[in-house]
Parts: sequence; structure tokens; C-alpha cells
Amino acid sequence: MYHIISIRDLERRDIDYLLDRAREFDTGNYHPRVLEDKLAALLFFEPSTRTRMSFATAMARLGGRSISVDSVEASSIVKGETLADTIRVVSGYADAIVLRHPKEGAARLASEFATVPVINAGDGAGQHPSQTLLDLYTIRQSMPIEGLDVGLLGDLRYGRTAHSLALALSLYGVKLHTIAPGGLEMPANITLELRERGMEVIEHEDVEEVIRDLDVLYVTRIQRERFPDSGSYYNVASSYRITPDHLCGVRDHLMILHPLPRAGEIDPAVDQTPYARYFEQARNGVPVRMALLYEVMK
Ligand code: NCD
Repeated sequence: MYHIISIRDLERRDIDYLLDRAREFDTGNYHPRVLEDKLAALLFFEPSTRTRMSFATAMARLGGRSISVDSVEASSIVKGETLADTIRVVSGYADAIVLRHPKEGAARLASEFATVPVINAGDGAGQHPSQTLLDLYTIRQSMPIEGLDVGLLGDLRYGRTAHSLALALSLYGVKLHTIAPGGLEMPANITLELRERGMEVIEHEDVEEVIRDLDVLYVTRIQRERFPDSGSYYNVASSYRITPDHLCGVRDHLMILHPLPRAGEIDPAVDQTPYARYFEQARNGVPVRMALLYEVMK
């Protein structure tokens, strides 16, 4: 049994293996009932559209089934049940647990009490490894990841997708360009970790100073729900927005990615350009999660 908690737990060859498997699922090269006798519990204690639905879709496409809790309000957490107890109980129902939780470290804690594999579907400002796998998959479908110039724009402080992705990209010799509003920079401990892993990390003030040198621009939403108060959110809200004007002179193959949902960071007019790849990226969540679910439950 193995858990998928942090991208840090995966080596480059594990990631490449999962991406290769995802490709097989994507091209229909699998038995449609391979998880016929399996049940996944989707415990989502934070809002989600793509992640929850793509895990459920992935289970269904593999012939398996899923059960879910979609909110804290609808679960026994409101009666004071601990996460540890919930996880112990659900381990008795399902063959794997997919957990999204507002607290950083929740998935790791859950894995200590679970008797079935746990997949972290986002733990607060911590990690979001399945998102990273689909991000890498999307890039790899177009070009080799090795040696690319990748820009991360947005809330790099609270954005778990940015944390996971940056760590994964450090395994591929990528040069990372970070662009964040004041106060939302990548946490110093993660930047240090990236540099210790040999990654070149360059901080920029403005996306305009670097966008023409990028192969991938990964845009993220300001994680409003993680702010201590609404005042500090409004200070940075709407501080960046990619519009068609930014795309003058960019590399022909530039990919603009976004984990979605977007909240104004990308002008919808960008959707019509060949650079916009975020809807394709969201679609890739299904084969990538098929590969993950299959590997942890087979
Ligand atoms: C992301 C998340 O939940 O971290 N969404 C997702 O899973 N696609 C990004 C976000 O909410 O901004």
C-alpha cells in the first residue's frame, strides 16, 4: 500500500512512470473494468469542482465506484469527530481515501491512521500532488520538461499547486521564474529547498519583464480563503491579469496553464489564443487520476 501525500515523496522515476501510465489510460489502452470491485471514498472538506469530479470520473471509467462527503457541514466533523476517527472509520468502507482538507498536514496525519491508501487532494496551503502530475502531463504532451523556463505567477505563498509543481520541476532541470504580488512570494523555506535541489530560481517583480523568455506560464488564483482577514486580501486582489496585450512577442510554443478556478487572473480573451491550455489541462485530470487510483489500488 502506498500513499500519495506530497510530491516530495516521489522520485523522478515514480513521476515518469505515473505519467507514462496516464498516457496509456488517455489513449484507451486499458481494461475498462480493472477497478470493478474497488470503492474510493472522496472526502472533500473544502470546495472543489475539478478535483472531486475528475477523481469520481476516473473511478467510474475504471469500472469502480466512489462514495463521497462533500462538506464539513454534512459530516460528523460538526459533531466534534476528529479527522483520525473519520479516517479510521472510512478505511473500513473503502479501498482508498482521497482527502481534501483546509489544514496543511491533514493528509499526512490521515495516512497515519488509514489502513487503505490516502491520496492528498489538497491540504490547506501545503501540497496538491495529483494536480502537479496533471500539470506535468500537460506540459509533457507538448514538449520535454527538461530545461524549460517556467514562470509561476500569482499567490505563491498560499498556493499549494505552486508549491507542489515547483518541487516537481526541480527534478527536471527547469529554470523557475517566480512572479508574486508583495507579501505573496514563495515561502523562503521552499525557495531554499528548491535551490538546494539545484534549481535556478529567479524572482521577478512583473510578468512583463519575463514573459517573452518563458516556455510555460503557470498562473494561479489568489487564495482568498487562506487570508487572515479580508483587508489583506483586498490589498492584493486584482494585482495581476494576463490579457492578449501581454502576448505580443512571446515564444510561439508558450503554454499558459492555470489549475483553475480563475478569478480574473486571465482575461477570457486569452482563451481564443493558441497559448491558452488550461481547459486541456483540466481534462488531463481524468487520465492522470485514473493512473493514480489504479496504482494505489491494483
Ligand atoms: C486548486 C486548489 O484547490 O488548490 N484547484 C484545483 O484543484 N484545480 C487551485 C485553486 O483553488 O486556486
